[in-house]
This record gives sequence, structure tokens and C-alpha cells, in this order.
Amino acid sequence: MTSIDTAAMTTTLVHRASEHDAWWRNAVIYQVYPRSFADASGDGIGDLPGITSKLDHLARLGVDAVWLSPFYRSPQADAGYDVADYRQVDPLFGSLEDFDVLIERAHHLGLRVIVDLVPNHTSDEHEWFQAALASPKGSPERARYIFREGKGPEGAEPPNNWQSIFGGPAWTRLPDGQWYLHLFDSKQPDLDWTNPEVHEEFRSVLRFWLDRGVDGFRVDVAHGMVKAEGLPDWDGHVAMVEGVDEEGSTGAGNQGPMFDQEGVHEIYREWRAVLDEYEGDRILVAEAWVEPLSRLARYVRPDEMHQAFNFSYLTTKWDAQALRKVVTASLVANDEVGAPSTWVLSNHDVVRHPSRYGLSDPGSKPQGIGIGDEQPDEELGLRRARAATLITLGLPGSAYLYQGEELGLPEHTELDDSLRQDPAWFRTGHTERGRDGCRVPIPWDAEAPAFGFSPTGAAWLPQPASWAKYALSAQRGDATSTYGMYRAALRIRRDFKLGSGSLAWVDGLPEATAATTVAFVNGDVLVLANLGTEALPIGPEYGLELLISSQPLVHGAPLPPDTAAWFRLPR
Ligand code: GLC
Repeated sequence: MTSIDTAAMTTTLVHRASEHDAWWRNAVIYQVYPRSFADASGDGIGDLPGITSKLDHLARLGVDAVWLSPFYRSPQADAGYDVADYRQVDPLFGSLEDFDVLIERAHHLGLRVIVDLVPNHTSDEHEWFQAALASPKGSPERARYIFREGKGPEGAEPPNNWQSIFGGPAWTRLPDGQWYLHLFDSKQPDLDWTNPEVHEEFRSVLRFWLDRGVDGFRVDVAHGMVKAEGLPDWDGHVAMVEGVDEEGSTGAGNQGPMFDQEGVHEIYREWRAVLDEYEGDRILVAEAWVEPLSRLARYVRPDEMHQAFNFSYLTTKWDAQALRKVVTASLVANDEVGAPSTWVLSNHDVVRHPSRYGLSDPGSKPQGIGIGDEQPDEELGLRRARAATLITLGLPGSAYLYQGEELGLPEHTELDDSLRQDPAWFRTGHTERGRDGCRVPIPWDAEAPAFGFSPTGAAWLPQPASWAKYALSAQRGDATSTYGMYRAALRIRRDFKLGSGSLAWVDGLPEATAATTVAFVNGDVLVLANLGTEALPIGPEYGLELLISSQPLVHGAPLPPDTAAWFRLPR
């Protein structure tokens, strides 16, 4: 195999360095899933004081911001994505005062704080829905939700054929005969965004948290709030997480009359105007499972949101060509509207990426993994995950990390089914394992009960014994650990301004090498990843200075399979 020759290297530029320096354009944002991060109260469920106690860890890691999944008052039918009061902290997680302490500490450490906003639906225990239940058909109370008469004799059939994303029908009938729509669980009734009262309420909720100092909002199901007029039947498959397409590339798309309707954009323009009233660059981030990327980019036009999660990137398989394609498509689509691209590999809704990459079809995306399913190759998966991280953090734009990935944490793939809590597991008649396996509490201390997650050793989901080796305490101080690699990569990313940098693909690699290599230049840095099965020679004579690698690498030695590295280019 021919070696990489930087002297003769030609490149194709697809993205120029950004001239804007707003923080969010290149930020690394760390997702905290409150119930599983750190438990200060000892009840086995993480809480806000627990998060505050670990903010130093995040500052040391080197991230710029924290995104908190919901901690609002909620019956927890969907782990808090069923909000009963948008202006209160659930007692499980603490109090508003705890939130104030958290945000003050975060800001003191230089960390911004983004909170989750769930506007597509409320909890059925929200006072609005309770009022709707207590009010007659046709009342203003019911007009805040999507109530309809059924079809067929006596309206006994649901108003249309829509299915819930968690399985089963998307409609539930009340004793008085009317049906209400819920794209998710029956305890998550969809709001009617044609109702001005709903708009007014959410503008007020935005202001409530902006006044408390939050730096932005991650907007849940941002593509779902407006439904096509007349709620027409649809025979497509409704899923939050689609499988990959035959090209092994993206597949995040969600079409159908419940998603990605033109009207959602008006809502974001309205919200952008609210955010712009505030000082300090507050942001809106779309959780929109929309494709193609050019369609997703419409959510981040200059007067709408600031960022959108790049699920096309997340769903791309461990395949060099597919990665190259999705990176180019992302940068081109976002450049067109002047928005930064984002990059994400894991979150609380998908199987953790080290486990996805350890499957026989690496990077494929099962709806959860449990006993009896194919078990990932843990070592190989982690090896690839570390390489994927160096690709991701080497890209220009903003990157999202999911709690525990800095420890190389895999999915819990052998969780006892009797402990599962995800509504998807129940609503699919126990056919989809769901998302509990990526929500298991974080191991902080290898020696402590519940690995230091809680002072009493309680944990709402049990951690596998094998997680001792992933605990922060087992990795701290070891530069070769996954934690050590993340810290170093974040530091170098900052030093070399990779987040606001450029991207040029390296051309002219021999065909066989090109098929399995991700090779790009961002400013002064060459990012090289070998996804093939043979080592990739890198001639020592080219003066490449090794900055970091995902596996131990000797200067000038070939890059082993499933390994990535950053090199400083000779001047
Ligand atoms: C989003 C959340 C997911 C939740 C769903 C319903 O996709 O990320 O966890 O179940 O919305 O709110």
C-alpha cells in the first residue's frame, strides 16, 4: 500500500473557516441526563444537586456547555419528557433554588447551560389537560389539544390511522366518546399549535427560563408540532429513529403528515424574536429527525433556530465513504443558510455508539439491545468509538457529547427485561427493547457502591459489574484512557480552533486506501482515520507531527485498523 504523502497531497475544500465567533458556532455541548448522572439525595435517581457537584468534572473535561434533559414536574411516564408543569422542578430532581445554584456554579466555571423544552405535548397530568378532561366537547379547554370525533359506527374507530412512535395507535378515547392525539405515549397528549393560546404560553415559558439565566433550549420533537390540515391517513412507518438506508448512510428521515410541516417554521421565527430580546447569545437547538440535510437546514435559517442535531451523521454506518458523504452534505447544506454543522454520535434515545460499532453490521442501529439479541464486541466497538470521536471532534462546527461517552461507556446490553421502564418496550408488546440500556447511571468511582452514582448505593437501573473499569476513578490520570483521550482532544480542538475551522478532503489516495480512509485537513491539522482492515502506512519523512491518536501510535509507524489520529501539517 502506498503511504500518505503530504508533500504531494492535494485537497478539495468543501467548507471555509468561519468568520463568526459566536460561542455556539463551535461549542462542544455535553448532554446530562439528570436521572442518571449523579444522585446527591441517595434515592437512586440523579438530581440537580448531584449535577452541580459534578460540574467541575465537566469544566476539567473541557466542554463549553451543558444541555440538561428535562427535570420539570412530571409523572415520569417518559422519563420527564411528559411535563406537568413547565415552570417547576420535579421534587425527584430538587427545587428551583437548586436550579439557580446549578446555573450559578456552571456560569462561574465558564459553562453555559441549555435546558430542554418539550412543546409538542404535555403530560396528561398538566393542568391544561386536566381541565380539558373536565370540560365538554368543543370547549376552549379542549381546543388546546387535538380532540376529534372517531370514525365508523358510533365513532368507535380512531379519527385516522396514525400510529404512536412508541407503538400502538396514536389516539386514545375518552368516556364521552372523543379521541385525543398522542404521537408518543397516551400520557403525552399533543398540543394544538393552531391555537394562539398555546403560542402565548410557550413564549412565556421561554421567558421564564431566560430570565433565570439559561443560555438556550433544546427543542424536543421540533419537527412535530404542526400537523397537516385535516390529519390525513398515512401508511408510512412512524418512528423517531429510522434504520439506515440501503446505501448505509443516513436514514433519519421522518416523513408523513405529522412531521416537518411548513407551519413549524413560523413558531421558530416567533421564538427567535423572543430570544433576540435577551443579551448574551441565547440559542435554540432543534431535535428534528428530518432529512435530507438540506431540508433540516431550513430549521436553522438566519431568523429561526441556531443549530439542529445532525441525526444523519449519527445514523451513518462505520464506513469511510458514507461518512465522507454525510460530512460533505452537512457542511454544504448548513453553509447554504449560514449555520454551523453539528456532530453527534450518542444521546438518551439511541444505543450508545461503542456498542453500535461493535455489532456485526457496524454502526447499524437497533431499537435497544437485550438478552438474546446479538451482543456487541465490546473491545472492537470501543476501539472504533474512540476513532469516531477523533473524526467527530476534528470536524468544524459544534459537537454534542452524551454523558458517559468520555468514559467509553457501552450500552447496558444485558439489562433484565423486568427492570425496563421505557414506554416503547411496553407499547410495542415487548418487541422493542427501547432506550433504558443507554440511560444506566454513570460510574464515577470503581470502589464505591453503585460506582459512586449515589451515596447510598441505590440506582434506578443497575450498572453491570464490568463497568468498574469504565469508572472515572479508574481512568483519571491515565493519558491513554478514553477519558484522557477526550480531554486531550478537546484541548487540542480548542488550541487549533478546529471548531471554527475549515474542511478539505485529501485527494489522490490510492483507490483501495480511499475506500477505507477518512482523511481531511482542518486548518493546520490533518485528521486521518483508518476504517479498513490493514494498517495504513504514513511515511515518517513527511514531517507530520502526531498530536493525538485513538490508539497508541509510534511516530512514523503505520496507522492501525480502526484508528484515527490528528497530525500537525508541516508549514
Ligand atoms: C424526544 C426525546 C425522547 C422522548 C420524545 C418524546 O425525541 O428525545 O426521549 O421520548 O421526544 O418527548
